[in-house]
Amino acid sequence: MKKPDLHTVAVIGTGVIGRSWMAVFARSGRRVRVFDTDPAQVAAALAWFRADLKRQRREGLLKKKAAAAQWELVEAVESLAEAVAGAGYVQESGPERLDLKQALYRDLDEAAHPAAILGSSTSALDMTEIARGLAGAGRCLVVHPTNPPHVVPATEILGGAETSPAVVKRTTRFMKDLGQVPILMNRYVPGFVFNRMQAALVREAVDLVRSGVCDVQAVDDSIRSGLGLRWALMGPFGCANTNADGGVRDYFTRFGSSYQSLWDDLKTDLRFDPELIERIGRQTDRVLPAPLEAQRVWRDRLVLEIRRLKAGNPLDSGRGKRKR
Ligand SMILES: NC(=O)c1ccc[n+]([C@@H]2O[C@H](COP(=O)([O-])OP(=O)(O)OC[C@H]3O[C@@H](n4cnc5c(N)ncnc54)[C@H](O)[C@@H]3O)[C@@H](O)[C@H]2O)c1
Repeated sequence: MKKPDLHTVAVIGTGVIGRSWMAVFARSGRRVRVFDTDPAQVAAALAWFRADLKRQRREGLLKKKAAAAQWELVEAVESLAEAVAGAGYVQESGPERLDLKQALYRDLDEAAHPAAILGSSTSALDMTEIARGLAGAGRCLVVHPTNPPHVVPATEILGGAETSPAVVKRTTRFMKDLGQVPILMNRYVPGFVFNRMQAALVREAVDLVRSGVCDVQAVDDSIRSGLGLRWALMGPFGCANTNADGGVRDYFTRFGSSYQSLWDDLKTDLRFDPELIERIGRQTDRVLPAPLEAQRVWRDRLVLEIRRLKAGNPLDSGRGKRKR
């Protein structure tokens, strides 16, 4: 069997995440073989991809030839073995259940070429557990995207106990080649990086509404017209660095004790109940009355515009270095 390269990839599971990965791979010129145990899901994913290419054509983001070329690169197949044949990289996006992922990885490890990398979109599971006992555990790792990966590029990369460091390195390079932004983790922690940070913020958002300090509109505006505008550019540490004249050390020296007393005040025993969810639901419906699909299309279009704007205006880290 010829050693596969990264020009041919397989997408296993074509739900919300798998179909978006399909777009990431096709956009970068990779041949993509897609497989799902439910043929209706494959049909829906292809219809979604076609509609997305059409929308990009309509908005002048893609030439006719380029759209046709992307479409040509995707092939739906009828078995897992056909999907992984000749693939140098496999992106697994099946259901989020340990027993199902373990079974899927057993099949993938058997069917894929030994040199192929097996990446999982899992949002929370530990690759040490998924790949336990597999002959090819060394080529298995978590490659967790932010939804949807063809719009939001940050992608968490994390091996299990047996993952080869070379596989982590190669996958990191591959993700960069695809235009994704690798978020490299050194060890497993529940929720990985995105969801831990998201959980910390959402906990406070829910508690502010629950306790009546403010409503959904105020919480969402504080992010979309406040903190979030900067976070899209710099992240929490970058913001700390630019929020004090002496940079991040000065910021945390001056404001460290304020953060510490707020951390002591944050609730950790918050629980959802149906009344609280309904209250949040009613307020959210008033803030966002447009149909859900229109909200998603608007969000994705503007996220891509922000990315274009950032790419055209990079922060020159070489010049303007702080003098010590
Ligand atoms: N939805 C999100 O926001 C999000 C974000 C990041 C990561 N993820 C992760 O991505 C993975 C997929 O999530 P999703 O939201 O796309 O789920 P989904 O339910 O939309 O899609 C899962 C797909 O896997 C298919 N499937 C089931 N068993 C299969 C098998 N043995 N072989 C091939 N296909 C099979 C199903 O038919 C379905 O189409 C999960 O691990 C999830 O945690 C989800």
